[in-house]
Amino acid sequence: MAQLWGGRFTKETVQEVFDFNQSFSFDKRLLKHDIQGSIAHVRMLAKQKIISENDAALIKGGLESINDDAAGGKLDFSDGYEDVHSFVEALLIKRIGDVGKKLHTGRSRNDQVALDMRLYTRDEIDEISSLLYELLALIVSLMKQHKTTVMPGFTHLQKAQPVTLAHHLGAYFEMFRRDRMRLADIRKRMNLCPLGSGALAGTTYPLDRAYTASLLGFDGVMTNSMDGVSDRDYLIEFLDAMAIIMMHLSRFCEEMITWNSDEYRFIEMDDGYSTGSSIMPQKKNPDVAELIRGKCGRVYGALTGLLTTMKSLPLAYNKDMQEDKEGAFMAMDTTAVCLRLFTGMLATVHVNEKRMRDSASHGFTNATDVADYLVKKGVFFRDAHRIVGELVLYCIEEKKGLGDLTLDEFAKFSDIIENDIYEAIDLDTCVRERNTVGAPGIEAIEEAIGSYELYLKEGR
Ligand code: ARG
Repeated sequence: MAQLWGGRFTKETVQEVFDFNQSFSFDKRLLKHDIQGSIAHVRMLAKQKIISENDAALIKGGLESINDDAAGGKLDFSDGYEDVHSFVEALLIKRIGDVGKKLHTGRSRNDQVALDMRLYTRDEIDEISSLLYELLALIVSLMKQHKTTVMPGFTHLQKAQPVTLAHHLGAYFEMFRRDRMRLADIRKRMNLCPLGSGALAGTTYPLDRAYTASLLGFDGVMTNSMDGVSDRDYLIEFLDAMAIIMMHLSRFCEEMITWNSDEYRFIEMDDGYSTGSSIMPQKKNPDVAELIRGKCGRVYGALTGLLTTMKSLPLAYNKDMQEDKEGAFMAMDTTAVCLRLFTGMLATVHVNEKRMRDSASHGFTNATDVADYLVKKGVFFRDAHRIVGELVLYCIEEKKGLGDLTLDEFAKFSDIIENDIYEAIDLDTCVRERNTVGAPGIEAIEEAIGSYELYLKEGR
């Protein structure tokens, strides 16, 4: 049991209490950021003449040696420390002697942990953002390949109107781009430095908080010290953003699972991203997609968990806040691995263009276009809707598609229909001619792809 406090105590902590209280087992992953924060703090202390340049150099050197050893896998994390902060401080004193005891001048673990977590989260936001970027780039390249790959669009999971695979993929581009914009928004709001808030009430040392903040790449300082040590909003926002990313991934996964089924056969997952069955030799299962879909639950759980932990907490720091870490780390790890695997899975998927087209050519996906044809010839839309409804009923009885009907058959329902109907309700026409902004028509989709490429070029 290695603790930073003890002067006031007459007894050792009960072992089970120590174990319950400690966070070292999970906050050791903050080590790099803890050291980064400490180096900035110590440089500021020297600049402000709170400690000497000489002492600062010794402390900085000691911290850097700890960081190097950690990077080289040479640190022994097995000792029972309370948290990463006490671990680093104890190690520093062991390495450079008593001068190491000056490191914590004008600082509390409350603003220290607030800083570490913010630095760590900021890196993770950048990491998730760049994973989203990779996925967005892949989606655009697939869109370019599938501008004319016709497939059915669904509502209520019933065939509705023909679209293209590019159009369908474009919907996901929009979702993941919003996710990425959301991250940028959170990053901007959270990029303020809490260090210097002290335990809760600032300090009497002449700290230069703005200097420390700029050394650490922050846009400024948090302007209320009580808020500085107790704000976890940014983490909740990030968890929320990750929950939405996972929700989007789960929708895409669900579609890929469905499309990969024998009933659809729109796509086939690559062997490298599929798994087999222990009993059924024919099976090739989309486990990766199912797991990503399933892992939504834990990320939602982390969000709900932290919201609940923070609910009703009085100002300022409370130990409850230590509970922010495990869920957040797990959610970050989960979202990152899911994004990575999803991108790999999508990059290797085999698209069965013929199946998609065949499917789109059945199920009356051109019924709306027959109605539109009638409207263009002067029929009121509501009347046209009824006429086509009757036509569809007739086709179901005759086991025919709308495009299979003869002009004589059409004439039984409307005397307006002429030979040009066939071209008007042809599958390719139905898609090609839909060129309102955001639609699947070739002009509209090329416009969309152009704007997506521009976004990718600007926003690495
Ligand atoms: N491990 C603690 C946490 O994660 C560090 C801050 C401890 N502060 C305190 N006053 N006990 O919140």
